[in-house]
Amino acid sequence: MSKNTQVLLAARPSEKPVPSDFRVVETAIPEPAEGEVLLKILYLSLDPYMRGRMNAGRSYAKPVEIGAVMEGGTVARVLRSRHPDFSDGDFVLSHSGWQSYALSRGTDLRKLDPAAAPLSTALGILGMPGFTAYAGLLTIGKPLPGETVVVAAASGAVGSAVGQIARIKGARAVGIAGGADKCAFVRDTLGFDAVIDHRAPDFAEQLAAACPKGIDVYFENVGGHVWDAVFPLLNDFARVPVCGLIAHYNQPAGAQAGSDRLPGVMREVLSRSLLIRGFIQREFADQRPLFYQEMAGWIKSGEVRYREDIVDGLENAPEAFIGLLDGRNFGKLVIRVAAEN
Ligand SMILES: NC(=O)c1ccc[n+]([C@@H]2O[C@H](COP(=O)([O-])OP(=O)(O)OC[C@H]3O[C@@H](n4cnc5c(N)ncnc54)[C@H](OP(=O)(O)O)[C@@H]3O)[C@@H](O)[C@H]2O)c1
Repeated sequence: MSKNTQVLLAARPSEKPVPSDFRVVETAIPEPAEGEVLLKILYLSLDPYMRGRMNAGRSYAKPVEIGAVMEGGTVARVLRSRHPDFSDGDFVLSHSGWQSYALSRGTDLRKLDPAAAPLSTALGILGMPGFTAYAGLLTIGKPLPGETVVVAAASGAVGSAVGQIARIKGARAVGIAGGADKCAFVRDTLGFDAVIDHRAPDFAEQLAAACPKGIDVYFENVGGHVWDAVFPLLNDFARVPVCGLIAHYNQPAGAQAGSDRLPGVMREVLSRSLLIRGFIQREFADQRPLFYQEMAGWIKSGEVRYREDIVDGLENAPEAFIGLLDGRNFGKLVIRVAAEN
């Protein structure tokens, strides 16, 4: 065996992360003690929440310490088991971070069946992002047949699932994405009813034209100028699951866009009886078994499609992650750390 390649947090970015905020090191591969398994990481998930972990100060989760391995969800193979519940060769979902080998005591592992679905999907459509879409849309958004559901980052891991689930529930799905290729994919492959490029100069007008009956559910993934265009179109009793605000993740803490807009927003929350509800997917953990069952069925029937953006090599993770925050990924971003066999 070779060495354990690890990507550490080297510095805390003040705005956009840069390559020097990360440091790639090689360490010895650890030995499993009794009750532990040694994991060989095959796939690493790169997700927007990791930007928050690079900041100091507690959010809904603890930050990564300077000099520590970057956090992240992974798919791994058990290389050596000293745990009664796992055998050498088992495939598992783990949370081992940006490294090529890791130890686990088993409590954080979920066994995966490579015959049931491609292993990488456990990080995307059949994993945390797919579940986020499912739970946030159905529990908070509650789309009804004929209603209009709008979602941005619509070609990505969460947004692509939101729009397709909305359509399964009989709603009209309007996607927002960056650039012609992503828009074509959202419309032609994912089957959204309409899609708007948020980089178009007349984006707000195009969005209004695509939502002639207003917006009943806005699944908030980005914030920024997308929120500004959506907000005036929200119908009475609209629901807004607030899932993510990626347009703001690189802003320094406390940064504000101009004057205080809260009074105006709150006035509309009141007068239009809006429900604006933030969530972190893990609060709906009890829905996961039903999600796995329903989503697997929708993939099998062709009602849900997905796209992965797979980048080879752990050493390329920093650059790929920086690109994710700029919209350079096209689909669920995954690093292939090692070959499956
Ligand atoms: N609450 C939770 O539990 C939870 C769980 C998972 C994810 N999330 C959130 O869900 C959102 C989507 O995550 P994901 O994993 O599916 O990512 P993703 O869509 O695969 O990738 C991020 C996408 O965001 C878009 N984007 C980036 N900057 C933007 C900007 N300034 N304005 C508009 N769009 C921008 C880009 O797409 P375009 O090129 O199309 O603009 C980019 O490709 C993120 O905000 C994430 O933090 C929340």
